[in-house]
Amino acid sequence: MKKRIVVLLSGLILALTACSSKRAAEEELVPDYVFTYAENQAEDYPTTQGAYRFAELVQERTGGKIQIQINAGGSLGDERSVIEQMQFGGIDFARVSLSPMSEVIPKLNVLQMPYLYTGPDHMWKVLEGKIGDEFLKSFEESSLVALSWYDAGARNFYNSVKPIHTPQDLKGMKIRVQESLLMSRMIELLGATAIQTSYADVYSALQTGQIDGAENNWPSYESEGHYEVAKYVTVDEHTRVPEVQIVAEATWNKLSPEYQDIIRACARESAQYERDLWKKRSERSEELVRAAGCEVVDLTPEEKRKFQEAVTPIYNEFCADHVDIIDAIVAAGRE
Ligand code: GCU
Repeated sequence: MKKRIVVLLSGLILALTACSSKRAAEEELVPDYVFTYAENQAEDYPTTQGAYRFAELVQERTGGKIQIQINAGGSLGDERSVIEQMQFGGIDFARVSLSPMSEVIPKLNVLQMPYLYTGPDHMWKVLEGKIGDEFLKSFEESSLVALSWYDAGARNFYNSVKPIHTPQDLKGMKIRVQESLLMSRMIELLGATAIQTSYADVYSALQTGQIDGAENNWPSYESEGHYEVAKYVTVDEHTRVPEVQIVAEATWNKLSPEYQDIIRACARESAQYERDLWKKRSERSEELVRAAGCEVVDLTPEEKRKFQEAVTPIYNEFCADHVDIIDAIVAAGRE
């Protein structure tokens, strides 16, 4: 009898142990947080791939406790509305361009002034140095936390009408710009009419003739199919508009300092990954559109100077309070 009871009891203990370890395993799989991440580019685009890498790293390093769901292709709205929603904590994470971001934090315009950087190395030197760090901190005044810079190359003009060699050629043209006062003003100074349109609407606006042209980097021009409806490209590289990964302050404040550290580190690692992808994609996109028959105007130094001179007043108009930072950025390009 005693023996039977012992056998029964040990059976019961075994069953209970199995049960509780199953529950523990299940609990381990249940995330503490499931967050949304907004991205307005296509699935295969470098920034979107960077976002997936970020989510993967965070999942790995938090043992599955933080899950970040990527919503690509602008499915959570255009950048302006994503930024607004994030300020109220409606969306947790995003990668956005600095142009719409500068409408919320005007000082950020400093980092995207026309013809500011001598090339990508110059821009990265600034973003990865003290100036870049200070600007990342400045997001806090707008209920956002900035995590890391992403690459978006240089932007060029393209249109469906004719080859452009000088600002004079742009006269009277309707050129789409991002939702940014700075970008509208740049177009006006070049003699064209600026039309602010959301990224998702540019293709149809070009196709229907609502606009004559737009401006963007090689991967966007290719990925969005703009090259199919606006084949004249002018490589003037007027702006390098950095992009940034951000998180809503409301979301950030829910997280422990350990989780915050992990997220910051993963964002930085994903940025490195995005930059590598960016370089390759940019070259591939340029090759692809050239092969597709786009007419590419490479400006002579003299022609490029005319563009630069035309937009010079914009520095006074938008950066009069930040001359010291502009000077420091320019100096970093000379070192
Ligand atoms: C780039 C950038 C996008 C932005 C777009 C635009 O493609 O990556 O985030 O929306 O420019 O011109 O609107």
